Amino acid sequence: MKKEEILKIFSQLISIESVSTDTKRKNEISKAVDLIKNYLLDLGLQVDIYQKENSHPLIVGKKIVSSKAKTFGFYAHYDVQPEDPVDKWLTPPFKLTLKNGKIFGRGVADDKGHLVQLLAGLKRMKNFKNNLVFIFEGEEEIGSINFEKLIKEDDFLKRVDVFYILDVGAKSKKSPQIFYGLRGIVEFELILQTGKTDLHSGIYGNLAVNPAQVGFEFFSKIKDGKTHQIKIPGFYDDVVKISVQEKKLLKKTESPIESKIFPSLEVNGVYSGYTGEGIKTIIPHQAVFKFSIRLVPNQNWKKVKKQVEDFAKKNLSKDVKYQLKTIAGSDPFYTDFKNPYVEKTGKVLKEVFQGEVIFNRSGGSIPAAEIFQRVYKKPVILTGFTLPDDNLHAPNENFDEEMFWKGIEAIEKIFLL
Ligand code: BES
Ligand code: MN
Ligand code: MN
Repeated sequence: MKKEEILKIFSQLISIESVSTDTKRKNEISKAVDLIKNYLLDLGLQVDIYQKENSHPLIVGKKIVSSKAKTFGFYAHYDVQPEDPVDKWLTPPFKLTLKNGKIFGRGVADDKGHLVQLLAGLKRMKNFKNNLVFIFEGEEEIGSINFEKLIKEDDFLKRVDVFYILDVGAKSKKSPQIFYGLRGIVEFELILQTGKTDLHSGIYGNLAVNPAQVGFEFFSKIKDGKTHQIKIPGFYDDVVKISVQEKKLLKKTESPIESKIFPSLEVNGVYSGYTGEGIKTIIPHQAVFKFSIRLVPNQNWKKVKKQVEDFAKKNLSKDVKYQLKTIAGSDPFYTDFKNPYVEKTGKVLKEVFQGEVIFNRSGGSIPAAEIFQRVYKKPVILTGFTLPDDNLHAPNENFDEEMFWKGIEAIEKIFLL
């Protein structure tokens, strides 16, 4: 394998700061698109770029060998999470660095590494057997708001026989995984406002309503912090109870099941009043809470959105003005993993990684999985090659080198299934 060539495109891609949530870096998104597009064109693929209004572009690359051949789809995302806190990184976040058998950089594991593995597999392919379609998204880390609309622009995607999503990891070097379930998610921002300006807490204490306090009370009503129970009426109505048999299988994966089979609600960020050094005796006029709810099979994010809105209406005091915004939503993914493609893929993974394949569920979310399944009704296979210490979304994100190269081998074999 010409490792230098692959590391070159990998390091070029990592040097591009395609942080999808940061509107100031839209230009970086364009740079990533150009790099990937040109690489695919050089390899002789047909490339289409789809974009709606303000969306980041969706890249679709096609290698069509024959109208009679099977068509395999491969998904990865080129957008990444913000690099903060930068001072916790031991290597520069946007500089691909090889150290102690690992590849470091923002996005190496999530999900540029898998994207580059696909490009590498493609580059090394001599004789194509199946038609290959590559679907590279630029909005995964911001909730895939336009994904469904964008894929529907390309009629050829209807001809895909199986979708591979490469955006998860293995349990260990000898334990590859295929995921058959992911949680859905709905993300909110709650803005509480009492007035136009902060007040002196000595003069207005006992008199003015404090929006931060109103928020704390609201969150203690919506969720019990000890039991993690969500206290919105009807919230659990649609949750399917896991079967004894599935529970047994999941317990064998030796990871806690609470975070993948139950819904959860978390405050993700809060800001209000003075957060600088020392003290400032004020009553803030505004408080902002970012929170999200993860969903499990049979829950529907639009229904949950409505329940949260009703709950806010009932439970937020009348002395505060509030705005509840929904940022994004996606439904949970769950699939039957007993289809021939899963079986064949499992064999490849077992052979390459020299260990049994674990069938697992994850508490994380990848909106594309549910969307592919619902829109095209074809098997969706979720796998990937990172390891549990990959530091996803955190400083020192990494991809194990051995796993990186072996993953490419596995991908080449999957291309030929
Ligand atoms: N690749 C992850 C999701 C993931 C990680 C699934 C590990 C399973 C195991 C993906 O990029 C991600 O971070 N998704 C977000 C989605 C959200 C922004 C809508 C998540 O789960 O928080
Ligand atoms: Mn990802
Ligand atoms: Mn991610």
